[in-house]
Amino acid sequence: MTQPALARAEALDAADPLAAYRDRFVIADPETVYLDGNSLGRLPVATRERLRVAIDVEWGADLIDGWTRWIELGRQAGDVLAGLVGAGPGEVILSDSTSVNLYKLASAALAARPGRRVIVTDDDNFPTDRYVLAGLGPVRLVHSDVDAGVDTDAVVHALDDDVALVSLSHVAYRSGAVCDLPGITAAVHEAGALVLWDLCHSAGAVPVGLAAAGVDLAVGCTYKHLNAGPGAPAFLYVRRDLQPVLRQPIQGWFGQSDQFGMGTGYAPVDTIERFLVGTPPVLGGYAVLEGARLSAEAGIGAIARKGRALGAYLIELHDAWLAPLGFRLASPREDARRGAHVTLHHPDAWRICQALKAARVIPDHRVPDRLRLGLAPLYTRFVDVHIAMSRLRALVQAGRHREFPAERARVT
Ligand SMILES: Cc1ncc(COP(=O)(O)O)c(C=O)c1O
Repeated sequence: MTQPALARAEALDAADPLAAYRDRFVIADPETVYLDGNSLGRLPVATRERLRVAIDVEWGADLIDGWTRWIELGRQAGDVLAGLVGAGPGEVILSDSTSVNLYKLASAALAARPGRRVIVTDDDNFPTDRYVLAGLGPVRLVHSDVDAGVDTDAVVHALDDDVALVSLSHVAYRSGAVCDLPGITAAVHEAGALVLWDLCHSAGAVPVGLAAAGVDLAVGCTYKHLNAGPGAPAFLYVRRDLQPVLRQPIQGWFGQSDQFGMGTGYAPVDTIERFLVGTPPVLGGYAVLEGARLSAEAGIGAIARKGRALGAYLIELHDAWLAPLGFRLASPREDARRGAHVTLHHPDAWRICQALKAARVIPDHRVPDRLRLGLAPLYTRFVDVHIAMSRLRALVQAGRHREFPAERARVT
């Protein structure tokens, strides 16, 4: 470090083109450093206002007439999200949860590849992905290093004529490692299979480039970097040419043509609405719309650049202050290979996580011994990283984490 760390953080904040976006969020306790936006993003001010109107005016006064507007909400928010993940209008829609969307799209992909049964995923993919896929057919597990992420060659070696679907996370939930989405997508297509990407840690954090890579299918949540709030509806992407030909397994009335004709048989539409099931959560939908608009306004390129710069600064402080205290970087060091969080390994990570929360820095913990530090670019300052790392260094130096229980809590 050429400059004292705090002066460097202040200089980076002064030069940050996204600095003003912090004021667009509710910051209830300015003394607390929130580094968990990769689990649950902060509340945007615009969302609070939009939900007030939705509750007081649209639900409170308009009642059932609200549906004339609400019926389009999933598509409207989907079009904004499409811009963030490099898809076209009409290719993304809000629907259900990530887990349910993964089930629907994986099932549709398997049905579209008769004669092939195998699903390829990796052993460090997010648990819900592995469980959903295992419920659908024989799974071929590729090994991934928990810190380095998915190895393209290992995926390529797992491909053969039995593989119907490859399903992976673009940004790894534990380490933040970004995998080679274009390279893997091309290899999967070459092998005659379909690809389904989980974008939970990518959407609103890094560019994805779905159309440029020719991706078939994708799913993702909105409560992390899209700041749509707890339990907000997830999204799904289906490439336009696949929409009329895929058969989704949950035949609900929101996928039906002439929905209010109440016809006897199921005759799904040919558009992205084909992948809907039932009545959508409207309040959550408005929250996605506002959150996605905020990210779109800032621009995904600028967001990713800041996320990586925050990560590089954090790693610099880790090397100088924490490595001597027994920490080890558990994320890729190379900026282009990281999403918007950085993970540190320490044998006492769970107790350190609790002690850090008591010191008013909010990270999270992932098994077995990883401390995850989320660097949501729209509201995290370089100074926040400095404060968090200073408090972390001080508490570990003083051994204060040893005062906390070693047993894991229900939620980590
Ligand atoms: C990569 C990934 N996939 C899926 C999920 C969760 O999906 P759901 O919203 O259905 O619980 C998460 C949650 O953190 C995740 O990180």
